Amino acid sequence: MKLLVTGAAGFIGSAFVRARLGRADGSRILALDCLTYAGNLENLAPVAQLPEFEFERANIRDAPAVRAAFRRFRPDVVVHCAAESHVDRSILSPLDAVSTNIQGTAVLLEAAREHPPRLFLQVSTDEVYGSVDPPGLASEDDPLRPTSPYSASKAGADCLALSYGTTYALPVIVSRGSNTYGPYQFPEKLIPLMIANALDEKPLPVYGDGLHQRTWLHVDDHCHALEVLIERGRPGQVYNVAGQSLLSNLEVVREVLRLCDRPESLVQFVPDRPGHDRRYALTAEKLRDQTGWLPAIEFNAGLQSTFEWYVENRAWVDGIRSGEYLEYYERNYARRSANFVG
Ligand code: NAD
Ligand code: TYD
Repeated sequence: MKLLVTGAAGFIGSAFVRARLGRADGSRILALDCLTYAGNLENLAPVAQLPEFEFERANIRDAPAVRAAFRRFRPDVVVHCAAESHVDRSILSPLDAVSTNIQGTAVLLEAAREHPPRLFLQVSTDEVYGSVDPPGLASEDDPLRPTSPYSASKAGADCLALSYGTTYALPVIVSRGSNTYGPYQFPEKLIPLMIANALDEKPLPVYGDGLHQRTWLHVDDHCHALEVLIERGRPGQVYNVAGQSLLSNLEVVREVLRLCDRPESLVQFVPDRPGHDRRYALTAEKLRDQTGWLPAIEFNAGLQSTFEWYVENRAWVDGIRSGEYLEYYERNYARRSANFVG
């Protein structure tokens, strides 16, 4: 099977590629990524020398490049992970989120229309449902109520992808994963940021009261769900992919501090994220019922192994936490203070 994986140098895309090629089942992968701040070829180093693997640096908004890649490689399956994936960045630069997440997806769908794959898997997020009041769980038929430029652009891309199914008979599946964590995650997202800051004995910035809740999913479980959908998902359908642990941010941060053996005094409550969704909670019953998929990695065990990976890979983190990263970090927290405190 030939798979085109977009965003393959990012967190989930690279985990998918490493796992798939680890199976050595004769699959070939074209990894396509333009290497934004979040893309890192080191994430693909374990597979870079394999003959079944090739990397192409291309922007998904670049229609001629994307069409040429489809024409040359003729993928059986497209796993579309490329995105501007961070809510805070989308608040600072909404047009980047819109152009990559919507326009870039449209470019891919057009190329797929020209050279139809067996499946176009749109890797999306539970954030498109917006905040879900307790004790509710979002299911696939629920209305979309995105609140950030990131989630709104993902919702737009999901609708567009599904429209290619109904209008052009393109076999599209949309997966909606919950908050994902694990090795190689860019340290702007909650868990790797808190681990990196705690290890460096820097303050851990908790937004608002820290009681916002997220449903945590290990990246290996997320990638396994994508594999299951490639094998057994039904085209035209949306599938939620949910971890088992619904936790407040403070609960997660306290667990990180315990693992890092750092005091709770490192927690620093900072002004809240604008439009911060209170609770992401969803059910993956449909995926379980149709395919048997269940998450296998319990949160505490997954967090422990993630923490160990970050300890063993300090050079990977240090390589990122300089230059552009520091500028972003300053801008993100400075802007919040200007909006809410000053
Ligand atoms: P990431 O930010 O780690 O990686 C994104 C990758 O896409 C990077 O390698 C980047 O270089 C690449 N990219 C960005 N813009 C591009 C463009 N215009 N052209 C080509 N490549 C481009 O993101 P991630 O966490 O791996 O997320 C992957 C997908 O999964 C995204 O679509 C995201 O919406 C979705 N998702 C993420 C989570 C999560 O918690 N991380 C949860 C659910 C769904
Ligand atoms: P994040 O990892 O950015 O994912 P998302 O916004 O897509 O859910 O954030 C997860 C939660 O952690 C979210 O409620 C915001 C919160 N958070 C903080 O409290 N402090 C931080 O520095 C970051 C990055 C996030």
